[in-house]
Amino acid sequence: MRGILLAGGTGTRLWPVTRAISKQLMPVFDKPMVYYPLCTLVMAGVREILIITTPEDQDQFRRLLGDGAQFGLRLDYAVQPRPEGIAQAFLIGADFIGAESVALILGDNIFHGVGLGQQLSRPGRLAGARILAQEVTDPAAYGVVELDGTGNVLSIEEKPIRPRSRYAVPGLYFYDNRVVDIARTVRPSARRELEITAINDHYRRSGELFVTVLDRGTVWLDAGTFTSLMQAAEFVRVIEERDGVKIGCIEEVAWRCGLISDGQLRRLAEPLTRSGYGEYLLGLLADRRVER
Ligand code: TTP
Repeated sequence: MRGILLAGGTGTRLWPVTRAISKQLMPVFDKPMVYYPLCTLVMAGVREILIITTPEDQDQFRRLLGDGAQFGLRLDYAVQPRPEGIAQAFLIGADFIGAESVALILGDNIFHGVGLGQQLSRPGRLAGARILAQEVTDPAAYGVVELDGTGNVLSIEEKPIRPRSRYAVPGLYFYDNRVVDIARTVRPSARRELEITAINDHYRRSGELFVTVLDRGTVWLDAGTFTSLMQAAEFVRVIEERDGVKIGCIEEVAWRCGLISDGQLRRLAEPLTRSGYGEYLLGLLADRRVER
């Protein structure tokens, strides 16, 4: 399965902060925001990832992440000239997706939960579309999915005025290869965007939209406003300081997934020791020796 990390957008809800820097490069406590969705994709088993940015921001993403080889990944880049909707990712990424299925994650979505990787990395080929659902107090701000008692999808609507349920749809979606052709049929909505909800509703109408309700132990944050950005940073800080483990640490995730060796992890860690980040990575190697 291929992965797309969508990190364009204008970030107007964070202006003036994001007038000169991409939202997804803003820090969430001790690392750039984009590390978190990148880790989520890797934990879901994705190794080839297209990073879509605005034209202005692409160089900075490249400087941060390069071609991904240092993490045992293949990272490609593409631009979205204007923020014309999340579903446009499949048009921009059509060649990259090729004949594969695809996972799409939004660059400002942060997931954390024990066993999340396993929950996401289902074996076997995906037929149809799989989305997530999480109960929230303000569903009207999101795509909202309505389920019957057995988990069948009754409806899915984008930012409804009167939500039919409290299940919001987080920014992580899995599709079979037909998504590219479906995206080509989607027309812009009233707010002039190619809506991801239109794609999901297309799959729903043919009975091929499947929903995984995130369990209560899973945290899902989007970091698009001043308050949610601060809350996300505080959440990461509390967990990291309390548990002594990092969230969204791509170097660690790559190493734990067996994508890089001990020596490669050490080489990534060494330039980062003064911030404490590198010390943490070196500590992983030391702890493992003790565990043995
Ligand atoms: P949004 O938060 O809806 O949009 P935004 O990032 O431009 O911010 P604001 O609403 O404050 O203006 O986008 C959610 C995520 O999806 C975010 O990571 C940016 C990304 N995105 C794109 O890359 N391209 C798009 O066309 C859209 C709509 C979103």
